[in-house]
Amino acid sequence: MIEVLKNIYERRSVRSFKEQVPSDEELKEIIKAGTFAPNGTNAQGLRFVVISDAALLKKYSNVAKALFVDMIKKQLEKLPADKAEGPKRMMQTLSNPDFNIFYDAPTLILVLANPSCLTPMEDGAAAAENMMLAAWSVGIGSCWIGFANPLQHSAEFLNETGIPSDHRLIAPIILGYPKKAPPKGKRNEPEILKWIR
Ligand SMILES: Cc1cc2nc3c(=O)[nH]c(=O)nc-3n(C[C@H](O)[C@H](O)[C@H](O)COP(=O)(O)O)c2cc1C
Repeated sequence: MIEVLKNIYERRSVRSFKEQVPSDEELKEIIKAGTFAPNGTNAQGLRFVVISDAALLKKYSNVAKALFVDMIKKQLEKLPADKAEGPKRMMQTLSNPDFNIFYDAPTLILVLANPSCLTPMEDGAAAAENMMLAAWSVGIGSCWIGFANPLQHSAEFLNETGIPSDHRLIAPIILGYPKKAPPKGKRNEPEILKWIR
């Protein structure tokens, strides 16, 4: 199969990692692949932060969990009881002190959009997918960690990581060598609503 399609069909989210940090060269290549994604008006306003400090990642996991739980609590105040089950389950997971949202991955890359991005979400997501495919192609597993989104609202986190407050956190991606191969993925058949010729 053509290599790019093989990567697309075989990539899976990885949530169990060896301790070894990918090399600087590998990480730079992955980031470079991110910058080659399509982006609105070719503004090229994405910026990246790399964190490979295990203690810091554990600390940021705890910060993000606390912020996420606060968010869910506020949501639950407004939600009818029949819609509360999912958020409650999520809150339980996040309240477990042993749960590391980064799954003890050796590296986290934050994809950020600076104010020059006209389409920050789209640019960041396209870059993130390029990066995850590039990583997979060299044997590095990855997973997008949406649970880390609330870090955007932690002044301490922004200060410590040097992220300017006008930058938006779009995609927090963990990376590392998989401890074991993730299970094969399944997808529903594409639903093509209409094909007009
Ligand atoms: C925006 C976004 C946020 C995600 N957040 C998390 C997360 O916080 N934790 C997690 O374990 N996986 C997270 N994922 C990974 C998805 O669960 C995963 O992509 C999905 O189950 C499909 O599996 P696959 O990536 O192996 O194909 C996220 C994925 C996306 C695109």
